[in-house]
Amino acid sequence: MCGIVAYMGEREAYPILLKGLHRLEYRGYDSAGVALLKKGQDINLYKCKGKVADLELFASTKDVSGTLGVGHTRWATHGIPDDKNAHPHFSESGDLVIIHNGIIENYASLKKELENRGHTFKSDTDTEVLVYLIDNIIKNEHVDLVEAVQIALNQVIGAYAIVVLSKDKPDMMIGAKKGSPLVVGIGENHEYFIASDATPIIEYTRNVVYLNDEEIVILERGKEIKIKTIKNQDKTPYIQELEMQLETIEKGGFDHFMLKEIYEQPRSIRDNMRGRLNMELGEVTLGGIIDYQSKIMNANRIIIVACGTSWHAGLVGEYLFEELARIPVEVEYASEFRYRNPIITENDVVIAISQSGETADTLAAIELAKSKGATIFGICNVVGSSIARATHAGSYTHAGPEIGVASTKAFTAQVTVLTLMALVIGHKKGTITETKYRQMLNGLDQLPEKIEKMLSFDDQIKYISSIYKDANNFLYLGRSYNFPIALEGALKLKEISYIHAEGYPAAEMKHGPIALIDENMPVVVIAPNKGSYEKILSNVQEVKARGGKIIAIVTEGDTEVADLADHSIEIPEVEEELTPLMSVIPLQLLAYHIAIMRGCNVDQPRNLAKSVTVE
Ligand code: G6P
Repeated sequence: MCGIVAYMGEREAYPILLKGLHRLEYRGYDSAGVALLKKGQDINLYKCKGKVADLELFASTKDVSGTLGVGHTRWATHGIPDDKNAHPHFSESGDLVIIHNGIIENYASLKKELENRGHTFKSDTDTEVLVYLIDNIIKNEHVDLVEAVQIALNQVIGAYAIVVLSKDKPDMMIGAKKGSPLVVGIGENHEYFIASDATPIIEYTRNVVYLNDEEIVILERGKEIKIKTIKNQDKTPYIQELEMQLETIEKGGFDHFMLKEIYEQPRSIRDNMRGRLNMELGEVTLGGIIDYQSKIMNANRIIIVACGTSWHAGLVGEYLFEELARIPVEVEYASEFRYRNPIITENDVVIAISQSGETADTLAAIELAKSKGATIFGICNVVGSSIARATHAGSYTHAGPEIGVASTKAFTAQVTVLTLMALVIGHKKGTITETKYRQMLNGLDQLPEKIEKMLSFDDQIKYISSIYKDANNFLYLGRSYNFPIALEGALKLKEISYIHAEGYPAAEMKHGPIALIDENMPVVVIAPNKGSYEKILSNVQEVKARGGKIIAIVTEGDTEVADLADHSIEIPEVEEELTPLMSVIPLQLLAYHIAIMRGCNVDQPRNLAKSVTVE
């Protein structure tokens, strides 16, 4: 994870770096730092443990002038979050400075070798080893900075997105990447930006180049952008135009990004279905799958790989594909899948789901499945991301930038794409009736309006939150399509409020969690009036009989569950397949309000990061 940003041009670098770091803070906030380089002077480096705001305070009395600089916000991997392990890191001589996102896996052996040659390290990081190595190569092999970076990166195993500056090259910055993302912004008059994503760049330029793995970008004042590989092959920069809008990465009047993103869901789902759901023609089209439609229809099975919230979306996908398209589905944690020698054939279709499109384990799972001949379909939010580029085909979720670390609108957008996909395939295969198809189309069409309605219950959810904000544990129960929502509701609560919460299939409660139920245990039961309603009614009775406090999510007009529950929140009537898209909304709001009432930082929960580019 970690966020990196760099600038070289005619403006002062520091304000640009600082603003960029604030935008990248979702990638990690254990420490922050900047380094500024001016001709003929030593590099000025300021860094400290804590958030970007702490750095701002720390640097407020320092000389932060200069038109070339780098900035970093850290999610700690090697070495505790403290000042010395904060980036940027100097080389031993102080001639070079580096910022890094990723992990140098063979850093220990490289470090040992350098220590044997008499070098002393100041931090516990893998990153410092890399900058020492580059400096060592320059001094011992008498090569220039570019060549030294190439030689060093050829010795490195692992993932990196780096920017390196040299005191001897005050008009140059060098970036390189493998496994971790890096985008270069090209402004007027050879003004250059480098960042982990485009958010620090968009108000300055729309022209960007996404670096590919093992590429190095060489940026010099007054000169055109140059790209080479670490094996020194020249590459032609592919300049793309950014489509992102500035207002999408700002809070727009909300107190937190998370709340803004929850409230954006009617819009993000509308954007997601635009051009895909055509009510006049009565059909769904999904451009991304056209070339692979028959492959998916005839797939032996679908394997969904993902992590975190995206994995929960995958679980909903399992119910959707099996029900609507009658294709067997397995849903795998990418991190487990990739390490267990899975049986994959050319007749399998792998669907990789990822908001960021950068999750290291998901990316590795894709590469593994690809090597075995499977067809890989991506569902990503970030356009141009590594996963979007690594897949054979895919559909974007078009949710817009998601900045709150706890995923909300990206999740509903992922589930929407999965629903559209299962519908298209099911319709083509003839595994759903024409009537069901039409009902689903109508249901999808009305989704944004119904979510809007759900959001109007926010005050009620806030009130319920105030009653349970001090609970130590929560249990979430759901069945069928809403079992994954129980998992997602529990995850939302634990990640932002630090309350222990578990999601369970309602019937499984009898096999363990029921032992935990007493009058102090709030139990959230998702009980729409569909499929297994009668069964979940019994589960509600079982909780009630043991004194548990029940917060029920019910279909509007429900009386049975609502009468038993301590509190009930109504969701509009929808097709069963669409209930997850309704029931998750109050659970997002419940987690949000409880976390706020407990004084937690909902946008930047402790120890988490939004984009997990380490394994
Ligand atoms: C992190 C984030 C989660 C996200 C997960 C997978 O844990 O905090 O919100 O669901 O990574 O990320 P992806 O970008 O692949 O969806």
